[in-house]
Amino acid sequence: MDKGRLIVLEGTDGAGSTTQGDELAAWLQELGLEVVRTAQPSPLPTGQLIRQILRGDLQGIDAAVVALLFAADRVDLAHRVMEPALQRGAWVVCDRHIASSLAFQVVDGQGGIEPAWITAINSRAMAADLTLWLDLPVATALQRIESRGKPLERFEVAETLQKVRQRYQEVFAAPGPLLGHIAVVDAAAARDAVACAIRQTVRELFALPERR
Ligand SMILES: Nc1ncnc2c1ncn2[C@@H]1O[C@H](COP(=O)(O)OP(=O)(O)OP(=O)(O)O)[C@@H](O)[C@H]1O
Ligand SMILES: [Mg+2]
Repeated sequence: MDKGRLIVLEGTDGAGSTTQGDELAAWLQELGLEVVRTAQPSPLPTGQLIRQILRGDLQGIDAAVVALLFAADRVDLAHRVMEPALQRGAWVVCDRHIASSLAFQVVDGQGGIEPAWITAINSRAMAADLTLWLDLPVATALQRIESRGKPLERFEVAETLQKVRQRYQEVFAAPGPLLGHIAVVDAAAARDAVACAIRQTVRELFALPERR
């Protein structure tokens, strides 16, 4: 049996990674593939701890500690979920991976965290086969986040999102090995148009059929 593939969706909050990850997973399933849908922070214990910090339920945690927790969660998720799935031939669709730490953790905290240290503590992270970067203007992302009507999280303010978007631009301009193939997606487009562009990229890269 063919080994599965790891496809990662990246972008600022509100870019649509969850929406598009779900669409992509459903389409891959229609093609007859087994799909494991996951995200970082993961639903595992370390991921839950990170979500508490992002919501502001746990305060006073240093940005370096948050970066280490993300790195730990990534390794835990790979060992417990991704590797077994890929081994049995399933495709894994994951919201966020190492590029998120290179973007968000680097702008977090006073002075931020150095990218080289982020790369070092993530040296055991799993390499993706494809990273889809959903890029859009910050104003559009914020409109979407606000229309969701949920409380805003740690990074969901214009100034921070702008810095995060700039960091993504830097990360994808000089990509490291763990990102795999990189595709930039115009995430400001309508939902169906974005989904269609993603399907086309995935179909071409992995030589998938149009329909089952
Ligand atoms: N192409 C689109 N056009 C308009 N609205 C969209 C589009 N994609 C997603 N949305 C809406 O924007 C909001 C944010 O989308 P989504 O939750 O998928 O983003 P996200 O990148 O996963 O955000 P977060 O990082 O905060 O989880 C949702 O309400 C979603 O329905
Ligand atoms: Mg999401």
